[in-house]
Amino acid sequence: MNEYDSARMRDLLQESHNLVPTENPEDADVLLLNTCSIREKAQEKVFHQLGRWKKLKLKNPDLIIGVGGCVASQEGAEIGRRAPYVDLVFGPQTLHRLPEMLEQRDSGDTLIVDVSFPEIEKFDNLPQPKVEGPSAFVSVMEGCSKYCTFCVVPYTRGEEVSRPFDDVLAEISQLADKGVREINLLGQNVNAYGSELGDRQAFSKLLRACGDVSGLERVRFMSPHPRDFTDDVIEAMAHTSNVMPTLHMPLQSGSDSVLQRMRRSYRQDKYLGIIDRVRAAMPRASITTDIIVGFPGETEEDFQATMDVVRQARFASAYTFQYSKRPGTPAATMENQIEKEVVQERYERLVKLVNQISLEENIAQIDNSVEILVAHGEGRKDAHTNRRSGRS
Ligand code: 5AD
Ligand code: SF4
Repeated sequence: MNEYDSARMRDLLQESHNLVPTENPEDADVLLLNTCSIREKAQEKVFHQLGRWKKLKLKNPDLIIGVGGCVASQEGAEIGRRAPYVDLVFGPQTLHRLPEMLEQRDSGDTLIVDVSFPEIEKFDNLPQPKVEGPSAFVSVMEGCSKYCTFCVVPYTRGEEVSRPFDDVLAEISQLADKGVREINLLGQNVNAYGSELGDRQAFSKLLRACGDVSGLERVRFMSPHPRDFTDDVIEAMAHTSNVMPTLHMPLQSGSDSVLQRMRRSYRQDKYLGIIDRVRAAMPRASITTDIIVGFPGETEEDFQATMDVVRQARFASAYTFQYSKRPGTPAATMENQIEKEVVQERYERLVKLVNQISLEENIAQIDNSVEILVAHGEGRKDAHTNRRSGRS
């Protein structure tokens, strides 16, 4: 999502102010930092980076420094107090106002802060996305209204708001016309698409509509929530030829009591049931997930329930995270926060199991021929060799 937003900032400022990207921060007139606050580590990096940029500002007082994204959204004007050389603070939903913010900054000397959530106005104010290579992201909905107890997203990106169906489809068609072969539909809760407008099947309709876009060969989406993962989505995946048989569906925990305290409304059997139905409809489906270890109160038994789901689901791969306390979330003040050493040790066991299954699944692919999409930027080593890499 942040990659998508960063690309929109670049397109926007190119159009409004003729700014062109540079590889070298020393050459820049404007430096923007798009930030993430999902875990503490990402958040810490922000002030380190700003510290480095401070030196550039000392050399060039006309340099404009802006901070966007979820850390900006959460901290607001506090960023200006900790880093007084910052000129602009904008949130994930106000990045389309960057051109005006730059103008305002030019005519004054005060810190400009706008981290509001003005509904979906963002998309009506962005230029058509530029094409870079054969693969592109398309954001279909923003924000999240699930309020999982560990997660900052609903506070930093606001509640779920879906883009109009026709706008999304028009963007996809325009990209396909310009040569894009693969679209990745994005949303914090992508399969909740349209549900706040009263259409609970809007996401499966969108998948089916992608099937009719000429030139579009691959459609992916991330990330769905098991709660909204209804059978019409599985059917649409299986029956729409360009929708890839792949699913990234966050598990978070395999333990019912942890899921309950996470405010994740599904339980272990529902999650595994979805996987069974996906595999029945698409036998070669590649399924990946997100897992958090060490949520407050997690017992060894809870952790074993997660390990059991990993064994049964046989994920092609998984993003594994150690629980990170986020200020302002309900889990941050729960009792029984787990000791660092215990979390680390469970984490290592989980990673070992995930990697072992991943390897077994990869070995099972030996001698299979697959079609790959050679994507721009993938496989950095490729540039100097005859090797080309891409995704199956
Ligand atoms: N601590 C650890 N991991 C988290 N995630 C979200 N919030 C936290 C947190 N507080 C993980 C979830 C989510 C992924 C994007 O980041 O697994 O699916
Ligand atoms: Fe965060 Fe995802 Fe839960 Fe929304 S559904 S609160 S984005 S973890």
